[in-house]
Amino acid sequence: MRQAGRYMPEYQAVRSRADFMRLCREPELSAEVSWLPRTILGVDALIIFNDILIPIDEMGGAVVFGERGPEITRPLRTESDLSGWFAAVDYTAPGAEPIVCESIRRLRGEAGPDIPIFGFAGAPFTMAAYAIEGKMSKSLNVIKRMRFEAPELLHRALERLTTTISSYLVAQVQGGGADAVQLFDTWAGELTRDDYEEFALRYARRAIEEVRKACPGVPVQYFARDAAHMLDLAASAGADVLSIDWRVRLADARQRLSMFGDSPPTLQGNLDPVVLDAGPEQVARHFHRTLEDFDPFVGYIANLGHGILPTARVASAQALVAAVKALECPGTPVPDEVVAEIAAKRGQGGTR
Ligand code: CP3
Repeated sequence: MRQAGRYMPEYQAVRSRADFMRLCREPELSAEVSWLPRTILGVDALIIFNDILIPIDEMGGAVVFGERGPEITRPLRTESDLSGWFAAVDYTAPGAEPIVCESIRRLRGEAGPDIPIFGFAGAPFTMAAYAIEGKMSKSLNVIKRMRFEAPELLHRALERLTTTISSYLVAQVQGGGADAVQLFDTWAGELTRDDYEEFALRYARRAIEEVRKACPGVPVQYFARDAAHMLDLAASAGADVLSIDWRVRLADARQRLSMFGDSPPTLQGNLDPVVLDAGPEQVARHFHRTLEDFDPFVGYIANLGHGILPTARVASAQALVAAVKALECPGTPVPDEVVAEIAAKRGQGGTR
């Protein structure tokens, strides 16, 4: 999930010197911003600062990040757009290394070998949603209309995106040295189960397979937002980790994935990001509530259920990290209230 961002005064300071595209495209700035969550929050792993829309820009979509969010100023709408400019990019080809690889290498220089660095990309359907809609859209009218009226066109766009995204992830591992990669399917949850299988899952699965083939042993994480109605399908994408939002209880999610027997995907999430707008004392409470009837020491990565919001309070984000560490690292200095609450819940005096 997003870690760095506008809620941090230190991010705002860097951002006042450079527009968002420059932050993504200047490795020195990108590495500087990626490092902030480590020093300010103390998180265990870092996500490289970048954006899922950068490859769409490089495919020809002319992306701008304005006041009201990102815009793809040349949206993909017709057959002639597809044949004219919407070109797949092979980021593993000689000379085609994406800039993000250099950002990851610089961040590694800062972080050393022991802090995992995550690369990421948008999943094919989510990328298609941006490329085709042209901007953020709640109802996805344009891509859904294409799904009904020109499904072949949509499939061909998804093919190109899948090739591009797979190579983008592989390059981040092989060239940049990322330790793990995440695939964000932010918009797939808008689909019916059938459409999800046909237009999102099929392509996400293929991208995951490509990474597995090229980068054996590198964990792949798949975030499916708003996917409570198709958790079983999302889990079948083949990722090691399934990140979920807050719309499903962790205990229920685990139960629903029992069909995967001894090797279900690790679950990641699913705290409501808005809790960080509330005071630090609310955060530990919300965290412990999400863990009710759920053993967090088996296949679970504590995280928010979506990216951190610009309205988050830094002290609340710090309190969340403290609450997680109190659970996993006995002896970490944490607020008394948090320790007491965990002790009461686990009945083990606050330790494992
Ligand atoms: O911690 C980090 O360093 C995370 C870096 C990161 C960003 N975008 C930076 C960003 C990550 C992991 C993303 C992923 C991303 N980008 C997704 C998938 C995850 C999700 O949040 O669903 C999506 C859908 C995007 C596309 C995107 N980029 C949108 C919709 C927006 C506008 C939303 C907003 O909050 O304004 C962006 C801009 C963006 N990407 C910002 C950041 C920090 C805010 C821009 C700014 O500083 O002006």
